[in-house]
Amino acid sequence: MSAAQVFCLASWNVDWVTRIASPLAPGQTLTGAGLQRLPGGKGSNAAVACARLGVSTAVLAGLGQDAGGDMALALWREEGLDTQGVRRFPSEPSGTALILVYPSGDNSIVVIPGANACLKVEHLEAASPALRSARVVMASCEVPLAVTQAAFALARAHGGLTLLNPAPALPLPEALWPLVDVLTPNAGELAQLSGQADVTRGAAALLARGVGAVVVTLGENGCALFRRDQPALFLPAHRVQVVDTVGAGDTFTGALAAALAQTTPWPKALAQANAAAAMATQARGALDGMPTREALQDFLAQHR
Ligand code: RIB
Repeated sequence: MSAAQVFCLASWNVDWVTRIASPLAPGQTLTGAGLQRLPGGKGSNAAVACARLGVSTAVLAGLGQDAGGDMALALWREEGLDTQGVRRFPSEPSGTALILVYPSGDNSIVVIPGANACLKVEHLEAASPALRSARVVMASCEVPLAVTQAAFALARAHGGLTLLNPAPALPLPEALWPLVDVLTPNAGELAQLSGQADVTRGAAALLARGVGAVVVTLGENGCALFRRDQPALFLPAHRVQVVDTVGAGDTFTGALAAALAQTTPWPKALAQANAAAAMATQARGALDGMPTREALQDFLAQHR
């Protein structure tokens, strides 16, 4: 693998998306409007967001030997990602996500991990040159936590910055917390992980476990950065026409990784991630609204 600036443990899912009028109640049947098969997976979405912003990105991923896996490889090559760390597992189908989008643009998602769950610590070996030299190593909770922990330990040992999107929110191993330099939960994930409904208290609880910085995405309320012994930084959300929030958090994480890999100072890095996430909500699916570097600059210039 060549020296990518960002290394991503890239979960991959084929997203099956339909739009429904309201959240489903148990026992209820609703009619969906249309069915789309789209690229997804929190890790893949973040990696693509990062690469679109002009930052070289390598992925380590588990794919099935199937059409879904082919779709991932075609996408990643088109987006210019380094795919040498991709493993194919003939015994499992590629990851799949069932996504319901509501008129507000909000969504509900069920993920079936498939080949994402086949990744093991030993698979890091083939990718370790790229992992060691990356400035930022990022992951979500859609790949096995043991792999993330080993990757973060390796990154740390080689001076890399580690970034975890704790989605879906799972109990993290005690040893993983202090290996996380930057954590990017949404408000619900923060509450689940910290046991605190209040964002400031929740972030403080996670900082006390050893996380370096907690960046909370707050949907229509923007985002907030919490660090030990530093004042919190809140940024309001951009007012945009929301079509679909699928992948907005992943875009935020990918854009933040891109900015931090370029040693962008925190306030500017946060502003870029906040804007990229807003742009992502303006189109359907996880990828269509993700900006290029030029589109992001234009958006920021128009939304000062
Ligand atoms: O965050 C959005 C993503 O969550 C979707 O692309 C879906 O695949 C699930 O991983």
